[in-house]
Amino acid sequence: MPVLYSEKLLDHFRHPRNYGALTSPDVSYESFNPLCGDRIRIELKIENASVQEVRFRGDGCAISIAAASLLTELILATGNPTITDDQLIAALESDIKPARVQCALLPLEALRAGLKS
Ligand code: FES
Repeated sequence: MPVLYSEKLLDHFRHPRNYGALTSPDVSYESFNPLCGDRIRIELKIENASVQEVRFRGDGCAISIAAASLLTELILATGNPTITDDQLIAALESDIKPARVQCALLPLEALRAGLKS
């Protein structure tokens, strides 16, 4: 059974991967959680339909920051930004309670909205 906050989640929160900004992103979108005021921005550089670079930044709780960091790794693993809710939540290896699912999906909302805009 997954623990509340896995070592992996805590590591990505304390040492977020791909944190920062891109100089001329093809996609840049910030999502906002109205329940807490947290924000996560995702930026992508895309070439030939494949993601070449991704960065994120923002203010968020441990779950949202770790999820954003893991999301960047999932995208870069294949270059494909099509990540499902279940994939991202599973990557956290933690017991994400229903009330915190929105935290975990905040970066994914930014990604999806950015790809549509
Ligand atoms: Fe705000 Fe988690 S408490 S995104």
